[in-house]
Amino acid sequence: MIALPKLPYAHSALEPVISAATMTLHHDKHHAKYVETVNALVGENGDGDLESILREANQNGSVKLQQNAGQAWNHAFFWNCMAPVQTSLAGPLSDAVSTAFGDLGELRKAFIEAGSSHFGSGWVWLVASGEALAVVTTHDGDTLALGPDLPLLVCDLWEHAYYLDHKNDRAGFLGSWWDRLVNWEFAEAQYRAAISDREPWSYDEGSRPTPVVTREDFEQALEEVTVHLARPPQAGTPEDRRLTVRLEQIADYHEVRKIEPTPADRDRFIHLDERLKAFERRWPKRPPPGTPDHWPPSLGGGLSDR
Ligand SMILES: [Fe+2]
Repeated sequence: MIALPKLPYAHSALEPVISAATMTLHHDKHHAKYVETVNALVGENGDGDLESILREANQNGSVKLQQNAGQAWNHAFFWNCMAPVQTSLAGPLSDAVSTAFGDLGELRKAFIEAGSSHFGSGWVWLVASGEALAVVTTHDGDTLALGPDLPLLVCDLWEHAYYLDHKNDRAGFLGSWWDRLVNWEFAEAQYRAAISDREPWSYDEGSRPTPVVTREDFEQALEEVTVHLARPPQAGTPEDRRLTVRLEQIADYHEVRKIEPTPADRDRFIHLDERLKAFERRWPKRPPPGTPDHWPPSLGGGLSDR
C-alpha cells in the first residue's frame, strides 16, 4: 500500500497562480484517486514502495498500473517543485543552466514553449543527464521516476491543473507558474544528487513517516527536531521534508496516546516553539496555528495551555 503524501504547504499558499479550489480538487481528489487505484491494483500485499511498483508494472506491461503509479509519483514530485515563497536559482545548477540554455530567460522560454505546444495531457520537465540539462515532455501518466534522466522540476499539463484558474491559457499558466512558484531550492537539491552520490527525492520519503509509537520514539523525534532546528534545512530538501514529518509526529504524540504532556515535555515544547517561530518566518503565507492547513504543524496540546 502506498500513502497519499501531504501537501508541503497550505492549499491556499500558491494563490493567485493556483487557487485553493484547484489544489483541493487536484491533491485531495485527483492525486488521491491515483493513489487509491494503485492500492486497489497491487492489493493488500503491496510493499508500499512506489518506485518498485512502477518497475514491476513496466516489466509486466501492466499499462493501467503503470499509468496510475506514474501519476501518483509525478504529482507527489510536482508538489515539491513549487514553493509559496520566492526562491532563487543558485549554486551548480545556475552554472548548468548557463551552459545548456545561455541564461535563465532562455530556459524559461524553452520550458514554456515545450509545455504549451505539447499535445494533450502530460508533463513538462527540466531534467539532468549527469551535468547536462534538457527540457522534455511526457504524455499522460508516463513518468521519469525510473530515469534514465533525473528530474529537477516538473509542471502538470493536464487541464485539471490550471483550467479553473486560467481556462484554456496553458502558456499563461506556465508563465505565472515559472515566475511565481518554482522551488529552485528543490531543483538545486535534485541537481546536486544528479552530479554526486547524494540520494534524489523519492516518493516513499515524503509519504511514509516512521511511526512514533513508544516514549523512546518520541524522545528520538524530539532530539532529531532540536538538532535540525539549530540549522534549519533548505526548503524542499529531503532534510526539510523529514523535519516536517517529525514535527507532525511530535505534535500528534500525546493526542494519539491520550496522555498528558509532562512538565518536562512542556518546557521542551516551549524551547522548540521558539525555534519553530524562526523556522516559520520562511513560510509567511501559511494559515494561522489551529487551522487545518497550518504548516509546519504547531505542537498542539503541549503548548495550548501555556
Ligand atoms: Fe494533475
